[in-house]
Amino acid sequence: MVSEFGKTSKGESAKLYFMKNKNGMEIAVTDYGAALVKAAVSDKDKKMQDVVLGYDSAAAYEKGDVYFGASVGRVANRIGDASFELNGKTYELTANAGVNSLHGGRDYYNKRMWKAEKIEDRSVTFHLCSPKGDQGYPGNADISVTYELTDNNEIIIHYHAVSDADTLMNLTNHSYFNLSGHASGTVLKQEVMIAADSFTRADAESIPTGEIVPVEGTPMDFREYKTIGQDIEADYEALVFGMGYDHNWVLNGDGMRVVAGMRSKETGIAMEVVTDLPGMQFYTGNFLISEAGKEGAEYKKRHGVCFETQYFPDAVHKEHFEGPVVRAGEVYDTTTVYRFHTEA
Ligand code: GLA
Repeated sequence: MVSEFGKTSKGESAKLYFMKNKNGMEIAVTDYGAALVKAAVSDKDKKMQDVVLGYDSAAAYEKGDVYFGASVGRVANRIGDASFELNGKTYELTANAGVNSLHGGRDYYNKRMWKAEKIEDRSVTFHLCSPKGDQGYPGNADISVTYELTDNNEIIIHYHAVSDADTLMNLTNHSYFNLSGHASGTVLKQEVMIAADSFTRADAESIPTGEIVPVEGTPMDFREYKTIGQDIEADYEALVFGMGYDHNWVLNGDGMRVVAGMRSKETGIAMEVVTDLPGMQFYTGNFLISEAGKEGAEYKKRHGVCFETQYFPDAVHKEHFEGPVVRAGEVYDTTTVYRFHTEA
C-alpha cells in the first residue's frame, strides 16, 4: 500500500510505502530520506505497538535534525577536522559538529528525495545518485537502500553502492527504538545487550582516540542484558563526554551475526540487531530535547535508542580501523537486520 506523505519545501511529493507480514507486523518507509517511519509489532497483549520514533509528514522530516529513521551517508558518524586525504589529495567536508563532520556534514542524504524503485508487497528499494563533489566527497556514487519485511518479523536493510572513483562510504540507519511504544517515555528501564568485548575510546569531541578499550569492569559492558539506565549516570569519561551512551562498540566476530538485543518487560517486545559490519554506535537519544513526533507524541531525552551499524567513526584517519574506502567500481554491499519477537 502507498499513501501520500506530504510535500517538501521544494514542492516534491513524498510517499509512504506500507508492508505487512503474515503475523500482522507492519512497517512504513518513505522516499524522503529513505527513512523507516513506522514499525508496528504485536505486544504480549496482542496490541500493536509502533516501536520507532518518527514524524507524521515529509515536511516534519525536512525540519527535524535528529535523523529519525534516516538513511545516513555518505559517511555516517564523524570525520575529524572535517577533511581527509585519499590518493594524495585532500578533501574538505563541512564542519557541522564543532570542527568535525557528522553524518555527511551538509546536504544530508536524509533530507533528499530518493527514487522508489522495485516496489513490491514486502520490499522497496530507494535509489540516490550522489554526484562527484557531493558533500565534498569524490566519485559519482550510485546508492540504493532496500527495506524488506519478512515473515520472521525482520526488517532487512540492504545497502548497495558503486562509485566511479575511489571514495568513502559508510551508510547507516538512524532509527530510534522504544520497545514500550514510540510515545511511552524514556527507555531507561528497557534492557540492552551488545555482543562486544571492547569499544573505541573517544575524546570530548567524540572522535576516536584510536584506543580499543575492553568493556570489562566499565559501564560500557553490555555483554549481558542490563537496563539502559543501570550505569548511564556513572562518573565515567565516555558517559560524561557523550552525555550518556554515544559510542562505537567493536562488535565481536564477523559476517552476519547477532550483535545486539533490546527488550521491554512492559510490552514483552524484544529485538535483535544482526549485521555484517564491524562496529555499532549505540546512542541513547541524549540530544533529544523536545521533538513533536507522530500522532501527537512528544519525544524527550532518552525516549529512544539507536543501533547504528557502521565502520568505526573517523576510520579514514586511523590505519588500524577497517574501511571506509571504496575503490572505483568496487561494490559496497552491507546488510543490517532488525528482528523482532514478543515474549509473554
Ligand atoms: C549519532 C551521533 C550522536 C548524534 C546523533 C544524532 O548517534 O554519534 O552524537 O549526533 O547521531 O543526534
